[in-house]
Amino acid sequence: METISNGNGGVRNRHVAVFAFPFASHPQLLLTLVQRLAAATPTVVFSFFSTERTNRGLFSERGCDNILRYDVSDGLPEGYVLPGKLHEDINYFLAVAEKEFKRGVQVAEKDVGMKINCLVVDAFLWFSADLAEELKVPWVALWTAGACSLSAHIYTDLIREKYAELKGSAGLNDEIVDLIPGFTSIRLGDLPSGVILGDLDSPFATMPHRMGRTLTKATAVLINSFQELDPGLTKNLSSMCNNFLNIGPFNLVSSPSKQDEFSCITWLDNQKPGSVAYISFGTKFSPPPHELVALAEALEATKTPFLWSINKDSERHFPLGFLETTTANGLGKIVPWAPQVQVLEHVAIGVFVTHSGWNSVLESIGAGVPMICRPFIGDQPINTWMVERVWGIGVRIEGGNFTKLGTCHALEQVLSADASSKGRKERIGALKDHAHKAVGPNGSSIQNFNTLVGVVTGATL
Ligand SMILES: *[C@@H]1O[C@H](CO)[C@@H](O)[C@H](O)[C@H]1NC(C)=O
Ligand SMILES: *[C@@H]1O[C@H](CO)[C@@H](O)[C@H](O)[C@H]1NC(C)=O
Ligand SMILES: *[C@@H]1O[C@H](CO)[C@@H](O)[C@H](O)[C@H]1NC(C)=O
Repeated sequence: METISNGNGGVRNRHVAVFAFPFASHPQLLLTLVQRLAAATPTVVFSFFSTERTNRGLFSERGCDNILRYDVSDGLPEGYVLPGKLHEDINYFLAVAEKEFKRGVQVAEKDVGMKINCLVVDAFLWFSADLAEELKVPWVALWTAGACSLSAHIYTDLIREKYAELKGSAGLNDEIVDLIPGFTSIRLGDLPSGVILGDLDSPFATMPHRMGRTLTKATAVLINSFQELDPGLTKNLSSMCNNFLNIGPFNLVSSPSKQDEFSCITWLDNQKPGSVAYISFGTKFSPPPHELVALAEALEATKTPFLWSINKDSERHFPLGFLETTTANGLGKIVPWAPQVQVLEHVAIGVFVTHSGWNSVLESIGAGVPMICRPFIGDQPINTWMVERVWGIGVRIEGGNFTKLGTCHALEQVLSADASSKGRKERIGALKDHAHKAVGPNGSSIQNFNTLVGVVTGATL
């Protein structure tokens, strides 16, 4: 357990409260940001609030250096067994969150002996804007995904209005032109659910909707991206929000873990450059069994070398003999976990078969690897739209689901040496350069981060 020391004689002049959205990779991303801020501002104390369950995985008991750990309730009824129904845990948490954070702030102010000077929050916690107003402090919100999905949430009211006007018109197919500022066109089904499709009154639809309305009042809006990726969207969102700051990609500013317990890198060392398909759908998603079968069959039919990160439980859905044959003949390697950033950076990787979660997309861009996208929910479909239609750095699997034929076609398309494949590689190579420059000396994300430091330390408002 560390003592609280800040290495400059204990001078502390500001106190920042940080509110995490305690689900998926949200708390980790927010903590990465706070660690960068803490390193840049040694006289600031950060009080980091999240649930006991997530804090346990992030911190020692008390916290570290000038970041103090505070646990808030997850709101789950006594005896509740996780995971429970989809989003149920989120709803329980949201029901108590406002009260819990408020109570926590009072505890932290007493502990530290300093009033809060600034709130840094996960953007999903839109209601904390009221607390910032009450405390008369800046409200800084981190959107952990891309400008594309953020735009869909900020413009939800506008999109609903425009869509209502269009609805009756003839020739309206599933691709709509000029629906969102900054997009020439968008497929309706690729909008995050809850914008116009799905249950618009569910808590999980109203949360991002109200977030979108509230963010325009924030002192600063931060995103885990770099402005050269979406210059048009950045320009527009900068006109809507104060201090709209691209400060990523986070994966390029923090060092990845060097673990490789399943020897993925050693295996890749023996493969031809640009030949291997790396397959991973993140920790939370898995295509249904028939799609896993189709993907497996396509890999065998096209003789595509593959590294597949998949949980042990799903392996039983593979076609009979697939695991044994492909392992024995060296075509593939199947592991329960892979060091994704290092894998993607390996010269042997030719394509990333992904669910298009924002972190995965950014990691693929950071490594310059084209993608085959099979999106599930949330921002994944709109990220896929960007990958295929806007940035031209990958393809969406035909029809949105893996079939043997569609997957063979996608693998051949992306791994071939033809002009369109070359174009894809060139475009993602250029974005990769921009991403690395953005976080390099005096890069755009570094300049934006310095602006953020000014906001947090009270130097600029
Ligand atoms: C961004 O889009 C909104 C909505 O269409 C528009 O009102 C605003 O002027 C745009 N901003 C810029 C800088 O184009
Ligand atoms: C295709 O994918 C969608 C989205 O994940 C899913 O809802 C649907 O059931 C899938 N359809 C088939 C035929 O696999
Ligand atoms: C960093 O870049 C900005 C504009 O991109 C420029 O105004 C500034 O002088 C540069 N600073 C340094 C130290 O190079």
